[in-house]
Amino acid sequence: MSANRPAAVVVLAAGEGTRMKSATPKVLHSICGRSLVGHVVSAARELGPDELVVVVGHAREQVTAHLTAIDPGVRTAVQHEQNGTGHAVRMALEELAKADEAGPLDGTVVVVCGDTPLLTGETLRRLSAVHSADGNSVTVLTAVVPDSTGYGRIVRDPEGGAVTAIVEHRDASEAQRAITEINSGVFAFDGRLLADALGKVRTDNSQGEEYLTDVLGILRESGHRVGAAVAGDHREILGINNRVQLAEARRLLNGRLLDAAMLGGVTVVDPASTWVDVSVTFEQDTVVHPGTQLHGVTHLASGAEVGPNSTLTDTRVGEGARVSFTVAEGAEVGAGASAGPYAYLRPGTKLGRRSKAGTYVEMKNADIGECTKVPHLSYVGDATIGDHTNIGAASVFVNYDGVAKHHSTIGSHCRTGSDNMFVAPVTVGDGAYTAAGSVITRDVPPGSLAVARGQQRNIEGWVARKRPGSAAAQAAEAAREASARGASAGEASAHKASADEASARETSAREASDGE
Ligand code: UD1
Ligand code: CA
Repeated sequence: MSANRPAAVVVLAAGEGTRMKSATPKVLHSICGRSLVGHVVSAARELGPDELVVVVGHAREQVTAHLTAIDPGVRTAVQHEQNGTGHAVRMALEELAKADEAGPLDGTVVVVCGDTPLLTGETLRRLSAVHSADGNSVTVLTAVVPDSTGYGRIVRDPEGGAVTAIVEHRDASEAQRAITEINSGVFAFDGRLLADALGKVRTDNSQGEEYLTDVLGILRESGHRVGAAVAGDHREILGINNRVQLAEARRLLNGRLLDAAMLGGVTVVDPASTWVDVSVTFEQDTVVHPGTQLHGVTHLASGAEVGPNSTLTDTRVGEGARVSFTVAEGAEVGAGASAGPYAYLRPGTKLGRRSKAGTYVEMKNADIGECTKVPHLSYVGDATIGDHTNIGAASVFVNYDGVAKHHSTIGSHCRTGSDNMFVAPVTVGDGAYTAAGSVITRDVPPGSLAVARGQQRNIEGWVARKRPGSAAAQAAEAAREASARGASAGEASAHKASADEASARETSAREASDGE
């Protein structure tokens, strides 16, 4: 296998990609969590080349910065003007020669385009293997496609079928255009012969460019072996020129990733509405429901169930955990824990084992202990909550004083009332209770009950005095009389009926006065 290790892989990425109609350079558009050129670089890495050179031109600062970020081992060669694929490879070889006197050209040079994200390392390895086994000077990866419009056509010798030339669509005759075998733009070359032949490439074609494809004819004419390897699946060589093709490539790659997941024991209920990135990992017996998107380094542990309609980014979902209708980013959902329906877990959220972030619950930088529940309508920001605690509905961790964020700590086995505000920084000790509607501004010692709300005051007879004759007044009167006399069921319902009637009159009077 190491005998097939190429001296260099050259990735062509200098073109602008005008048909994308985008401020972003074409090769930086991404599918399944990785840029187009990133996919190509990662497939190229599988060959284990000594050198990996990307030819950059259009928006080269941006493209170079991206390449450095994703793979610091990548070298770049600058092609100032896009004078064709042959010229681009010439720039790459010059860059390699500049840097290495020993000459990486001794050996195989593989050339790929930066806009073919579906190409696999396996196909590149097969191309390299055919190239060495057959002792070719060049081996081109070809494919038979349903529609060859726009591609370079593979012209073969009618006797024997050897490849004699590649003719670009624009330069092809009517008969050549009928050929369905096309040039994928991927080649394995003998480095030295490639360098020599590139010196002989001319620009007398319809675009006035140096075509890399002309190297095949040049090598053949000087008596060298020219070979081809046919790609098993023509969709692998799909080149992206516009956003329709971008979507098509995304769909194909997503399908490939989901197929691998399903074959590995993941139930994907609806592959058509499930989208995953290349960096997502699954354990066996996970279930993904429709409308789910898994991004970044998201991981689902065995028995986890995610979806429907959930978007998880850089999130770990523990064994047997349940996540539904949830948006999570940079979160960790512990084993057996549950999130949603309708939870928003922001970065730094850590749900302990069997804990819960329920409906309309938002969390950020929150460490939730084992079996602790935040079931309804709450915001937990910058907080640590112990184990087995229950946070009442509609609670807010008031973490922001308008300038800085502060932290709150709630102990274990606490029962906090509904509609609490925990004004940070504040600490509630283990086993403490808080009363509903409390605004907790001071620390609560362990085991105490904190009550922090206004005392209730009942103003007797207020309705009768201020709203005489209203339905409310009649209902109140009925209730008062009934309780005073110990009323029969018949009397009580007669009073209720007259209150209901009054209520209906009030409603229709209100509607009549509601002008359009
Ligand atoms: C090229 C091939 C064609 C093949 C097709 C496969 C040539 C002459 N034609 O055509 O036979 O069927 O790919 O998709 O090789 N690039 C540079 N510098 C340049 C020109 C191009 O870096 O000066 C890069 C582009 O950024 C792109 C790749 O080379 O990544 C291919 O260039 P493109 O213009 O898309 O070539 P095609 O016309 O598609
Ligand atoms: Ca192309």
